[in-house]
Amino acid sequence: MGSLIECRDLWKVYRLGDVQVQALRGVTVDIQRGEFLAIMGASGSGKSTLMNIIGCLDSPTSGTCRLSDRDIGSLDSDALAEVRNREIGFIFQNFNLIPRTSALENVQLPLFYRGLPLREQRARAAEALARVGLAGREQHYPAQLSGGQQQRVAIARALVSTPSILLADEPTGNLDTESSREIMAVLKGLNRDEGITVLVVTHEADIAAYMSREIIIKDGQIVTDRQKNLVIG
Ligand SMILES: Nc1ncnc2c1ncn2[C@@H]1O[C@H](COP(=O)(O)OP(=O)(O)OP(=O)(O)O)[C@@H](O)[C@H]1O
Ligand SMILES: [Mg+2]
Repeated sequence: MGSLIECRDLWKVYRLGDVQVQALRGVTVDIQRGEFLAIMGASGSGKSTLMNIIGCLDSPTSGTCRLSDRDIGSLDSDALAEVRNREIGFIFQNFNLIPRTSALENVQLPLFYRGLPLREQRARAAEALARVGLAGREQHYPAQLSGGQQQRVAIARALVSTPSILLADEPTGNLDTESSREIMAVLKGLNRDEGITVLVVTHEADIAAYMSREIIIKDGQIVTDRQKNLVIG
């Protein structure tokens, strides 16, 4: 068995008229099942671009990315969506919850799209909310929840499809220190207790302190890739 994620010489070049931006310039990285990994780097260095390729939201200009031994570069958009829906959960900085829709319904949504029976949608959504410590908040609208709670709803929504990988792009970027700690503890628990592979893009060194491996990207290239002794267990 190979690695869970295998990226080889990934390039991403955006062309806007005459201007060409090399967002990724030859990124090679292997990620094993069960890793808890921080991706760091300055604004514009290519972190989101890399995450989006790993997450099957975007494809590289050249290079290959394999996910569970499948070359995702060779898949058409339907097949890509299928892999994404089955394997990957996304968490974003701004939560991306639907307003005036309850926490439970927000979490149900991926299951609704899959056509699961309503009763099963509700049961699984409630269970996912309980896993992130939000039992009892099912009927709250996003506006009736704190930032940290909203982000936990987003984590539950990512979890409800039982992904093997969680990709979080600056999940604590809009949160205060205490809520950030809470979110990292939830992600850490999912990694430790359920073996979910977690990749977190972050600017903050104290957030990266939770992770056992740190990758630093600069100008589209990996400049540091190191295992760490955990500061926060
Ligand atoms: N759709 C696009 N079209 C053109 N250029 C893009 C596009 N998306 C990203 N870029 C450029 O690619 C580079 C990398 O962008 P990316 O979003 O990956 O950076 P980032 O490391 O996530 O930054 P931040 O920390 O600000 O989120 C940047 O120079 C950006 O301007
Ligand atoms: Mg980004």
